Amino acid sequence: MTDTIIIGGGSGMGLALARTLLAEGMDVTIVGRSADRLATARAELERPGHGKVGTVEADMGREEDVAELFARVERVEHVVVTAADATGVYGRTADVDTATARTVVDTKLLGAWLVGKHAAGRVTGSITYTSGINAYRPNGSNTIMAAANGALASLAYGLAIELAPVRVNVISPGWVDTPIWDQLGMDKQAAFAELAERLPARRVGTPEDIAQAFFSVMRNGFITGTVLHVDGGHRIT
Ligand SMILES: NC(=O)c1ccc[n+]([C@@H]2O[C@H](COP(=O)([O-])OP(=O)(O)OC[C@H]3O[C@@H](n4cnc5c(N)ncnc54)[C@H](OP(=O)(O)O)[C@@H]3O)[C@@H](O)[C@H]2O)c1
Repeated sequence: MTDTIIIGGGSGMGLALARTLLAEGMDVTIVGRSADRLATARAELERPGHGKVGTVEADMGREEDVAELFARVERVEHVVVTAADATGVYGRTADVDTATARTVVDTKLLGAWLVGKHAAGRVTGSITYTSGINAYRPNGSNTIMAAANGALASLAYGLAIELAPVRVNVISPGWVDTPIWDQLGMDKQAAFAELAERLPARRVGTPEDIAQAFFSVMRNGFITGTVLHVDGGHRIT
């Protein structure tokens, strides 16, 4: 029995959320593909007096993995999905490998659908997905990720009706300093500094900013079928 499953919880925003929930005394299971990453995260997360940490190695793009994940927990209060792999995704559409684009859709969109499918009947409180600012402010270098992110809103609206009273929402982060940027092969500090000057918040996000947003949406029983933008004002610049 666990209170919350965080798919993608081995790093970045998912890990920050795990830290937050465990400190509240909730039991958390973090899910990802890499056993090493999960073990490192678990060692960091386990603290006396905090909730219990579980780990499950699974690829959310594979139906058998997602089915097995939910079969083994039977009941869970909240599910949060932060998983994404941006390797090879950034570039102009003409230059992005079709296999890479399929992997993005298989993981971010179809994987999210698989979570809805297999969590149904087992999740009791909420499902929260993670999209991103590129769905709302495309920059010509990440179109397939933007499309998958944008589609998550429609998925959440549909599932919020289908799975009610389970609540289904999306958090759409702006730029946040996490390991995902290491996959992009760019000077992230320069990019962050340039963006921070233009953002109303005057800084890029931290994983904790996004963790707090997940936690609010999970706890608020009147939020469902919603995309919450947590982007320092990026969408309105
Ligand atoms: N950081 C940003 O600026 C930003 C901005 C907008 C939106 N987002 C979105 O925010 C979410 C969280 O990203 P993050 O920045 O926290 O990145 P992150 O640190 O790279 O976290 C992503 C996690 O997902 C796991 N993962 C990747 N593919 C998976 C799969 N197929 N099945 C299961 N787990 C998988 C990874 O672990 P394994 O590799 O071990 O599987 C990793 O722990 C993503 O959906 C991302 O698109 C991020």
